[in-house]
Amino acid sequence: MLFDFEKIPPRQAYNLVIGLVAPRPIALVTTLNEDGSVNAAPFSAYNYLCLDPPILGLGLADRGPQGEPKDTARNIERAGEFVVNVVSEDLAQAMNACAVDFPAGVSELKQAGLEAEPGSLVSTPRIRQAHAAMECRLWQVLTPGRGRIILGRVLAAFVEDRFVDPQGPYILSEDLHAIGRMNGTGNYVRTRDAFLKIPRISYENWMKGERG
Ligand SMILES: Cc1cc2nc3c(=O)[nH]c(=O)nc-3n(C[C@H](O)[C@H](O)[C@H](O)COP(=O)(O)O)c2cc1C
Repeated sequence: MLFDFEKIPPRQAYNLVIGLVAPRPIALVTTLNEDGSVNAAPFSAYNYLCLDPPILGLGLADRGPQGEPKDTARNIERAGEFVVNVVSEDLAQAMNACAVDFPAGVSELKQAGLEAEPGSLVSTPRIRQAHAAMECRLWQVLTPGRGRIILGRVLAAFVEDRFVDPQGPYILSEDLHAIGRMNGTGNYVRTRDAFLKIPRISYENWMKGERG
């Protein structure tokens, strides 16, 4: 089957792309609402895009026929900062609760049974129950169409000690159990007991016949 993206409606393109760019990490993003309360919502159009400086990217679709920005986008543009909370298996249901379209004034955090913990370098809190989080300052917003690509510079990362190997430092990903989003039909993947170790091969070793 071949899908010509010039000929299919955006919804179909979305369905195909999110099934093919998978599994995706999930950023549970906290931002500050105008009244100072904390907003939380998950985004899987998310990755790191540059290391020096450390830049993360988020893709936020607009809402409704008028193309209203989501609260997260509005908050990031106003406050100039956000926090990405890492979604591990134990936070999966709470993360999903944060995606419910609650009316204005209802706290997603409270509904999801989560609590806010003050940030260190930003005014935006992280989520206390998240084992790791990155504090970001807005770097740039791109507006390619009916949505926003938000680029944020990572200012600081909080990681619970038990998930850090200080030698690298490396994240002990085998223990953190981050989950990934698949094709948008409610499918996710666990990373618990799912690791494949494939060390990089140098050119010299490749020429000597090493194949992993
Ligand atoms: C796992 C998951 C991933 C999501 N990823 C995205 C995404 O990448 N971009 C997006 O616009 N919405 C995404 N959503 C939907 C938003 O989380 C949802 O629209 C949310 O209500 C936005 O909240 P806000 O208005 O407080 O920003 C995702 C939902 C779930 C459950």
